[in-house]
Amino acid sequence: MHVQTTLKGLEDWTFRDANTQEHIHVIHPYPARMIPQIARRLIEKYSERGAVVLDPFCGSGSVLAEAKILRRHSVGIDINPLACLIAKVKTTPISPKILNNAFGEVRKKLKRISVNKEKLPRFYNVNYWFKAKTVEELTAIKNAIDALRGQDVRDFFYVCFSKTVRSVSLCRSGEYKLYRMSEEEIKRFNPDAFKEFIKNVKAGIEGMREFYARCEQGDVARSIVIRGNSRRIPLKSGSVDLIVTSPPYGDSRTTVAYGQFSRYSSLWLGFEERDVRDVDKASLGGAFVKFKSRNVRSKILDETLQEIVKRSVKRAEETEAFFSELWECLSELSRVLRENGYACIVIGNRTVSRVKMPTDQIIMEMGNELGLEHVRTYYRRIPTKCIPWANAPENIAGLKCETIANESIIVLKA
Ligand SMILES: C[S@@+](CC[C@H](N)C(=O)[O-])C[C@H]1O[C@@H](n2cnc3c(N)ncnc32)[C@H](O)[C@@H]1O
Repeated sequence: MHVQTTLKGLEDWTFRDANTQEHIHVIHPYPARMIPQIARRLIEKYSERGAVVLDPFCGSGSVLAEAKILRRHSVGIDINPLACLIAKVKTTPISPKILNNAFGEVRKKLKRISVNKEKLPRFYNVNYWFKAKTVEELTAIKNAIDALRGQDVRDFFYVCFSKTVRSVSLCRSGEYKLYRMSEEEIKRFNPDAFKEFIKNVKAGIEGMREFYARCEQGDVARSIVIRGNSRRIPLKSGSVDLIVTSPPYGDSRTTVAYGQFSRYSSLWLGFEERDVRDVDKASLGGAFVKFKSRNVRSKILDETLQEIVKRSVKRAEETEAFFSELWECLSELSRVLRENGYACIVIGNRTVSRVKMPTDQIIMEMGNELGLEHVRTYYRRIPTKCIPWANAPENIAGLKCETIANESIIVLKA
């Protein structure tokens, strides 16, 4: 097998000065988002116009939005209902004129609305995470959006609302897990949800203006977003031309907790409380199960697990559970990818109990076992991606070690 790797200097994948919030990507933050420049370059390199692109861990839909602009059809799958809503909005071009009219209606309502106290949300802990005044303001905004006509228009405003919920909550900013501000910070914190929302909608409409212009009219690339688990992909065998994706780097407990990040926005939007709480459990390796007979075939994984088990049996078992589920997803990817189609997987190597996990090499090995040939790997340093840069695996205060600082972009071919 011919393995080609690209080293520093040959092709720059860092995109250090690139605007990663361009056009519709500005609409909502999301943890470990794939920057649009990477998605775009991979789609252009490895597919033709009219192709079907799949992102089985689509998150906020960065790959899907870029596919649309490049005239590729796209399918996105994610277990997180909030991610699916953002991805839907990021792949649904709407005329800025329509949005501005709807915005006018919402603003008019916000001027004279008085909140019926009976209608305040009652989900668990709402008053712990939001000040009473904020709860009233958010309720008024949500009611004004609910009254708009057209699901696509409402969804656009719901996503702007979700971004607002995050910034007016009592969660510490800059964290993806739920940590409450200190009592001192809470006293000083006096958010204005109306102002925040108006600012977010204005930015969203500007983003949509550019996205809408880039989506050539009359030449419609279709996008579908499915809420589901990529361990079972509801697509026919051989129906996908290209896969571009960035799976979670590890289980949700010790890396990124997408469910926690999304929890309060999702509850405000009215998603089922149980579904919202189950996101992290459903995430790869989240419902930690002890595998009696392992199905994963990777020698490198076996060797790494043997190192981890010397330090922590529990961590070794959790890591094994994560890779077992990743194997199931990869096996589905190899099934739906057509012959000679490419799969581009963006992944970072982390450490578990101070043992480096060569996740990129494990994925290459697993891919090979599943009939996907390794074509090449591009390496990149991550300038700003929001992921846990440093954490202490033993959870000892003050002890830190680097977990993810580089990314590998692995290209496999069916
Ligand atoms: C690294 S993020 C993807 C970010 C995305 N590329 C973006 O630009 O927003 C990984 C995503 O995988 C999702 N996920 C985790 N386990 C999953 C599973 N078994 N099936 C489908 N999605 C899953 C998480 O909810 C999360 O949104």
